[in-house]
Order: sequence, then C-alpha cells, then structure tokens
Amino acid sequence: MLNIALPKGRLGEKVYNAFEKAGFECPSIKENSRKLIFENAEKGVRYFWVKPSDVSIYVERGVADVGVCGKDILEEYQPDVYELLDLKTGVCRMAVAAKKGFYDDGANTLKVATKFVRCAKEFYAKRGRDIDVIKLNGSIEIAPILGLSDVIVDIVETGTTLKENDLEVVETVFPISARLIANKASFKFKTAAIEKLIASVDTLE
Ligand code: PRP
Repeated sequence: MLNIALPKGRLGEKVYNAFEKAGFECPSIKENSRKLIFENAEKGVRYFWVKPSDVSIYVERGVADVGVCGKDILEEYQPDVYELLDLKTGVCRMAVAAKKGFYDDGANTLKVATKFVRCAKEFYAKRGRDIDVIKLNGSIEIAPILGLSDVIVDIVETGTTLKENDLEVVETVFPISARLIANKASFKFKTAAIEKLIASVDTLE
C-alpha cells in the first residue's frame, strides 16, 4: 500500500489528477464528501487530504510514504525527508515587505512579524541584522500597519494582499514552489511505486 498525503485544495487536486493518470487512481476521492481518507485496495493506494502545512509531518513520521508541500514548509520546519522533485507549480516567494517608503536605517532592533520564524531569523542572521521576531499565525499584513512590527516576512503570490494593505515588497527571501517529498524508509522499500509517481508528474501542466 502506498500512502500519499496531499494538501487540501487546488494544488492537491491537480496532483491527484496526475497520479490518477499514472495508474494510482482512487475514484472515491472525487465523490463530494467531507471524508479525508480514501483507499483503493486494488491499486494499493491510500490518499489523505491534510492541511498543506502538515503534509511534511505525516511524511516525516512515515504515516504517509510521499506527499506534496511547498518549499516554504521545508525551509521552515526542515523535516527529515527526501525532496524528490520540484513540481514547478504553486509558485510564489518568501519576501520581506513593509509599509510603502519604509527604510531600515539599522538604528534600532528591527521588529519582524511572521509565521516563518526560522526563515526570518536565518535571513537576517546572514546579514548580521538584529531582529525581534513576533510570531503570528495569520493576517500578517496588518502588523506593520498597526505598528506591531517594522516589516513582515511572508508569502507573496500575486502581490494583491500587500497592495490592498498599502505594503510593498522590500526584498525576496527565496522562491517557492511545490515539492514532491518522500519518507526516507519508504523510498527504500517502495522505490518502484514512488518512481512511477515521479514519472507521472510530467502530466502536471
Ligand atoms: C498567503 C500569504 C498572504 C497571501 C499572499 O496567505 O500569507 O497573505 O497568501 O497572496 P497574494 O500575494 O496573492 O495576495 P494564505 O492565503 O496562504 O493564508 P494565511 O492567511 O493563512 O497565511
């Protein structure tokens, strides 16, 4: 049985369609239900819909053999998994953003609001800039507007959220796209099935 953790949402659906074409179909997954686990015993496949940021946890612990998650999650949580492939979809970037016209004169400790504490710390440590990290869980963009922070480190895709909140990108931290990841032991013991999945990725647009 190959256990596959997919991120709930559009990206996960797209990836499922490719895996289906590769012969790992599980028709029940397309039934409109609130179920989260789907199995096709005949094809030896079981899918889980999980929160995108949780995929790497399932894979690292071996509950899922493979999964799909963003590079942001891999950078932030550094799970002990194999990163097999860049799926070249779900493209966006990790960026520093601030109120329009903000200039960091380096005089005071920089206040940084983010969900991605490790990414933010590493980025500023490399340039020797002192920061005070404020960990938030969402709506990061309002932090600089309300004066909670000087800047944010967050995901920017279209830039619409920043624009609508009068913020702008100061600089890019790293580019992001979806990655196919595998549990290390699973990769050893289920190599053939995983290789077949990798080949199916060609059918992702
Ligand atoms: C992300 C990110 C931004 C937004 C950027 O949030 O945190 O808020 O997308 O997208 P844009 O550049 O296209 O406007 P997400 O929707 O993932 O949810 P979150 O609030 O939980 O972070």
